[in-house]
Amino acid sequence: MTQGILTAAYLAASVLFILALGGLSHPETARRGNLYGIIGMTIALVATIWGAQITSYVTLFSIMAISAIIGIIVAARVQMTAMPELVAMLHSFVGLAAVLVGFASYMDPTTHYEGVEKTIHEVEIFLGVLIGAVTFTGSVIAFGKLHALITSKPLYLPARHWVNLAGGLACIWLGVAFVGAESVPAGMLPLLIMTLIAFAFGVHMVMAIGGADMPVVISMLNSYSGWAAAATGFMLSNDLLIIAGALVGSSGAILSYIMCRAMNRKFLAVIAGGFGTAGGAATSAEGEQGEVVSTSAEETAQLLSEAKNVIIVPGYGMAVAQAQHTIQDITKKLRDKGVNVRFGIHPVAGRMPGHMNVLLAEAKVPYDIVLEMDEINEDFPETDAVLVIGANDIVNPSAQTDPNSPIAGMPVLEVWKATTVVVMKRSMATGYAGVSNPLFFHDNTRMLFGDAKASVDAILAGV
Ligand code: TAP
Repeated sequence: MTQGILTAAYLAASVLFILALGGLSHPETARRGNLYGIIGMTIALVATIWGAQITSYVTLFSIMAISAIIGIIVAARVQMTAMPELVAMLHSFVGLAAVLVGFASYMDPTTHYEGVEKTIHEVEIFLGVLIGAVTFTGSVIAFGKLHALITSKPLYLPARHWVNLAGGLACIWLGVAFVGAESVPAGMLPLLIMTLIAFAFGVHMVMAIGGADMPVVISMLNSYSGWAAAATGFMLSNDLLIIAGALVGSSGAILSYIMCRAMNRKFLAVIAGGFGTAGGAATSAEGEQGEVVSTSAEETAQLLSEAKNVIIVPGYGMAVAQAQHTIQDITKKLRDKGVNVRFGIHPVAGRMPGHMNVLLAEAKVPYDIVLEMDEINEDFPETDAVLVIGANDIVNPSAQTDPNSPIAGMPVLEVWKATTVVVMKRSMATGYAGVSNPLFFHDNTRMLFGDAKASVDAILAGV
């Protein structure tokens, strides 16, 4: 393959990646976006395999076949609710790959750079290994936290900011030593020490983050993995890897920013790591508890049928119970009766960005009645009935009323302003952030206990 064809193939793949991102921004165009991405990645793979100087196609294809089989099995088996763990694990691979490519690139005896070119190449290696190492261990810890292998409570080391600062300064000093080293053996020691510090920094950074803040961490690590890939692209002089890495890096950063706003976190504090409050502990609202009023599926069905305006707020429990199809059946019946039914979606409902939107789209809920938090929050006072299905943190009023709450300041759906709120969950247990919820004790709240799927089946029979 000539250089010209390779460049054209990379350009086509880059354009397709950008179209893929554009398509993925809306549920109606998401399928097309995915298709663009698949075609782009196929072009990229074929061009790279064909264009590069491969010494052993047998080795390459055997490894690709094994990886593809593992990838297909894992992707086919993963539960929707376990998707963030899978994403975290995949980010760790990108990080580790960047570290390994960095070391290989440094030790490669066939590359000879002089003067400024040598300096630039070594800076690329140093940065690629640094970002890759942080991404690798950070993602492994994020995987452990999401998979409940590690406690989701934040771990605060004494003087942790000073520890981070010392690590950062040491890395700068090691970087100067690495770039200044004349030969490969002399540069290897600073590179190795920096890698160990970066590994430790990745662990420390994510260990210090509380459970409720994990979504931001995942998208931040997504961004880091993109920058690690871009740095690898610079090391290998591969334009497509630079472009794809920059796309992942910047879109991950934008998503992190949007999520930070949704959770009332400071973006810069996230980037520095170790952000968050005392997250995880059920500290607040203990004194506010009172009477809990239970209700039945029949009463809920009657309430919904008699209402003019209904808002359904789904959360993680709807995903666990797989109740979305029955919810759509209920919605259809109520709309046929003339009830105005809409959905209110919190940006971090469930366990991954867009979790609820994907499930509702799968159940064929019309897109025009699925509204974002900002679009619907003002309508709760004029709403007759709100159905909260397996949601907890995202409808917790203590985020607004209790400055000591671990989720203080997080924007929430103001469901308590409606005439009646029915909360469907199995028990009085807390949600992901481990914070008790005063909503359950409000006068206008009715608790419908039980598995969400069984409850919505019973409601469907009643409407
Ligand atoms: P949560 O606050 O986690 O509450 C979910 C509730 O669903 C639980 O209280 C649970 O109560 C109930 N539930 C679980 N299984 C159920 C079932 N089969 N039937 C009925 N109810 C069931 O969820 P949320 O309100 O969606 O808030 C999301 C939380 O996850 C936030 O804290 C957010 O920061 C965090 N988070 C979000 C993401 C993203 S990006 N979306 C990623 C990671 C973490 P019972 O046990 O009593 O049934």
